[in-house]
Amino acid sequence: MQLRPERPADAPAIASLIAQAFDGHPHSGGTEPAIVRELRAAGALTISLVAVDETGNIVGHIAFSPVTIAGRAGRWYGLGPISVLPALQRAGIGSRLMTDGLARLKALGAEGCVVLGEPAYYGRWGFAVHEGLVYPGVPPEYFMALAFAGGVPRGEVAYHAAFAAQA
Ligand SMILES: CC(C)(COP(=O)(O)OP(=O)(O)OC[C@H]1O[C@@H](n2cnc3c(N)ncnc32)[C@H](O)[C@@H]1OP(=O)(O)O)[C@@H](O)C(=O)NCCC(=O)NCCS
Repeated sequence: MQLRPERPADAPAIASLIAQAFDGHPHSGGTEPAIVRELRAAGALTISLVAVDETGNIVGHIAFSPVTIAGRAGRWYGLGPISVLPALQRAGIGSRLMTDGLARLKALGAEGCVVLGEPAYYGRWGFAVHEGLVYPGVPPEYFMALAFAGGVPRGEVAYHAAFAAQA
């Protein structure tokens, strides 16, 4: 298993992988492949990392893109979507994508990262709820942040417009 940044020819395989990972997911609207496609088209896919098996198949993927906080662009990013091929889940691929993706994001000079998801999963990497950093429309315990440098700002977070993409 190797991790590497996506290449242009990977786009269809990434879309297929994401669709499979989120198929039937309770919190999925089925738009995750379109979100990644639109982020890429907008030049807003800050990090797009793939996990590749021994035969060259893409079996995992993680994306990071810029967010705004209180309407201001800065050095904060949103994690997601993250996907692992269903048959290969719970084998550590997601954890490798998380650890490597966050290290790459930090190396780019990011101040921090936000994520919307399961507290039990993302808490392993230090993501935590921070009062004052809010994402409207979801229960607050599911919106978490991790600061690399300095503190966690206050304000309302907005993801890139690509997150409104339709399948
Ligand atoms: C979430 C996901 C990327 C994790 O990838 P993975 O390769 O299965 O994760 P890992 O094997 O590295 O880690 C699995 C560990 O996390 C735990 N875990 C996995 N998904 C979890 C979840 N949703 N909530 C809490 N814990 C979770 C498992 O219990 C496991 O712990 P264990 O090793 O002690 O058994 C993968 O399950 C997936 O693609 N899911 C569908 C898409 C999705 O939900 N994405 C996240 C929302 S953006």
